Amino acid sequence: MPIVTPLTKLLNIRVPVVQGGMQWVGVPELVAAVSNAGGLGLLTALTQPNPDALREAIKKTRKLTDKNFGVNITLLPSINPPDYEGYARAAVEEGVRIFETAGNNPAPFIKFFKQNGCIVIHKCTTIRHAKAAERMGADILSIDGFECAGHPGEEDIGGLVLLERASQELKIPYIASGGFADGQGLVSAMALGASGVNMGTRFMCTVESPIHQNIKEKIVASTEQDTVHIFRTLRNTARVFKNKVSQEVVRLERRPQGAKFEELRELVSGARGRVVYEIGDPDYGVWSAGIVIGLIRDIPTCEELLSRIESEAENAIERLNKLSVAKAKL
Ligand SMILES: Cc1cc2nc3c(=O)[nH]c(=O)nc-3n(C[C@H](O)[C@H](O)[C@H](O)COP(=O)(O)O)c2cc1C
Repeated sequence: MPIVTPLTKLLNIRVPVVQGGMQWVGVPELVAAVSNAGGLGLLTALTQPNPDALREAIKKTRKLTDKNFGVNITLLPSINPPDYEGYARAAVEEGVRIFETAGNNPAPFIKFFKQNGCIVIHKCTTIRHAKAAERMGADILSIDGFECAGHPGEEDIGGLVLLERASQELKIPYIASGGFADGQGLVSAMALGASGVNMGTRFMCTVESPIHQNIKEKIVASTEQDTVHIFRTLRNTARVFKNKVSQEVVRLERRPQGAKFEELRELVSGARGRVVYEIGDPDYGVWSAGIVIGLIRDIPTCEELLSRIESEAENAIERLNKLSVAKAKL
């Protein structure tokens, strides 16, 4: 029996699982595999060098799947911001109708997407930002808890409390993000009012993920203790894999005089992070990973992963049902 939620109905998908935007990872092969397997795949706009390249990536994805997929637009503070508007326009012109926005000041983008008849999932880490995005017209909120890979914000609120708060405060559907890898997690998110889950790290470690096999195996061999927060002192916290480079960044930040971004720039450059995935050296640069790596024990296809999540979810619901029957008999 498929699980039907506001998310599956709105996006016309079978499994209530979204593959969140992932720099260098959210490319057509993975996105199509997630959508073909019944979830929602999201292309990461900024992984493409320019809006025209995003057009090509959209066309390629469409050749690989006839299912719905979307595009993630990550709005990061930057001295030389990328052509966000160009990426957004290109995707809409190519017929994409589902977007994930993340980061700062999404209002003009949510407005633009809504004017063009699109569905917008806005990802955020606080209830305050979630309510603001709701007012801006977002259709679904992706509530990213402290467990997540990438940017958890600065308030350090874990998913349990954040999701319960979301159920109290939000009027529109929301999905749970950060720390999810299996059907048990999906059911617990739904118990907290979520319409599904968003997963990043789990999808990195699938057959169709474009990263080097060594990195996938490194994830499988790691535990929940193998991530670290960098940029805490710069108030731009990011959870990344604990390796030589990220530990050096933390060491520099912890000096009495702290560290300026300029001093860290070379160590943390996105280009070095990309090389990690290309050559398979986990120590070459910083790369995002969530504490959920402690739950990842294999490298399945997206089809295997999502079917397994469906059956685990069914079993978990059955187990819970049995608990209430047992109680009724008391
Ligand atoms: C390798 C990697 C790259 C990511 N890059 C982005 C990004 O560019 N934009 C974004 O909004 N989120 C990004 N994220 C965050 C994910 O979309 C998602 O919110 C997060 O991974 C959820 O936590 P989880 O890893 O525990 O599932 C990234 C995550 C990973 C693992």
